Amino acid sequence: MRQLTRATLAFALTMGVGIGLAAANAAETASDEETFTIGMKNLLPPALFDDNLVVTVGDPQAEAKPQPIAFTHERHVTTLGMDCNYCHSNARKGVHAGVPATSVCMGCHALIDTTDRPELVKLKDYWDKGAVIPWEKVHDLPDYVYFSHKRHVIAGLDCQECHGQVQDMTVNQRVSSLKMGWCLDCHAQHPSIDENYGTKAELRRAELKDCWTCHK
Ligand code: HEC
Ligand code: HEC
Ligand code: HEC
Ligand code: HEC
Ligand code: HEC
Repeated sequence: MRQLTRATLAFALTMGVGIGLAAANAAETASDEETFTIGMKNLLPPALFDDNLVVTVGDPQAEAKPQPIAFTHERHVTTLGMDCNYCHSNARKGVHAGVPATSVCMGCHALIDTTDRPELVKLKDYWDKGAVIPWEKVHDLPDYVYFSHKRHVIAGLDCQECHGQVQDMTVNQRVSSLKMGWCLDCHAQHPSIDENYGTKAELRRAELKDCWTCHK
């Protein structure tokens, strides 16, 4: 996995558009790939990215990861009718949606029988020891990307637009690439922008394309 430091990116962003525009014609017509080193390609805006240089986020094999406790969304959301907000209330308030503290689970599980339920015994053990449950992250953007849940949730987007049919999942998995193109595609055409901004929608869409929107 290639690493990109904040400093490199800041440089890429300050220089990228300028150099990119200046070099756009040259890059498109250049038959010799060696014209630009890999480092130089990082300075160019995305339209000029080489396909095989696109960074995948996290481990591409690990779209679903085994979790320390076999928690199922399907059981809690579909069978028990719980709202996403019950456990991820931070999604409408902050940058991170967050995973619930064990105390949220124990609000119910303190009263639920654990006999012959190994997964519930594990839950109770974490609680009794006061240990944090080491949930594996399924979604993870590189640190140099700015993403905020609040803004998207308040605009009226459903969790499912980005996370898929979580309420049907027995094992949580990532269904979206989380690549830059994925963000940009939606920003270019999401209907909420017309609904929320009316005659200013075009302007808003232009803002959402700006590099600094996601790379601060
Ligand atoms: C009973 C509490 C609970 C409810 C209700 C709940 N979740 Fe979760 N959610 C969790 C826990 C615990 C995890 C971490 C374990 C896992 O990934 O399965 C998690 C993980 C996630 C993740 C993955 C986080 C990561 O690792 O990147 C997403 C996305 C998610 N939930 C979305 C939803 C959505 C959408 C809903 C409503 C349809 C929902 N959740 C309802 C408890 C809950
Ligand atoms: C609103 C109440 C409620 C909350 C909050 C809740 N659960 Fe549950 N959970 C249940 C109920 C009810 C069942 C089904 C129990 C049964 O089948 O007898 C269940 C089932 C489970 C199971 C499956 C047990 C098995 O062996 O079949 C696991 C694992 C589990 N919960 C983990 C969690 C975790 C982890 C959290 C916190 C992130 C959590 N639950 C939060 C009510 C809740
Ligand atoms: C516009 C797309 C989008 C929407 C809508 C969205 N998410 Fe996310 N979600 C993401 C991305 C991207 C990440 C990875 C964030 C990171 O790594 O910094 C993420 C991460 C998460 C995580 C992992 C913990 C965290 O905060 O990083 C949970 C849990 C989660 N989302 C739940 C939800 C829930 C619940 C909703 C609906 C209330 C929701 N998301 C709506 C894109 C979205
Ligand atoms: C499913 C559609 C969708 C996806 C996917 C999506 N976004 Fe957005 N995003 C929106 C919409 C709609 C808005 C405009 C919200 C508004 O202005 O009311 C927005 C706004 C934003 C903003 C502006 C926040 C502000 O305070 O002005 C940022 C930053 C952002 N998105 C980052 C991202 C990143 C990073 C990704 C990819 C990891 C992403 N988004 C993926 C729909 C999406
Ligand atoms: C809507 C959000 C968004 C906007 C706008 C955006 N980016 Fe990105 N960018 C991302 C995300 C998410 C990633 C990480 C995932 C990936 O590599 O595709 C990323 C990754 C990158 C990388 C690292 C890619 C690599 O191959 O290492 C560079 C460089 C970059 N962006 C430059 C730019 C430039 C220049 C602009 C403006 C023309 C821009 N970005 C606009 C979301 C955005």
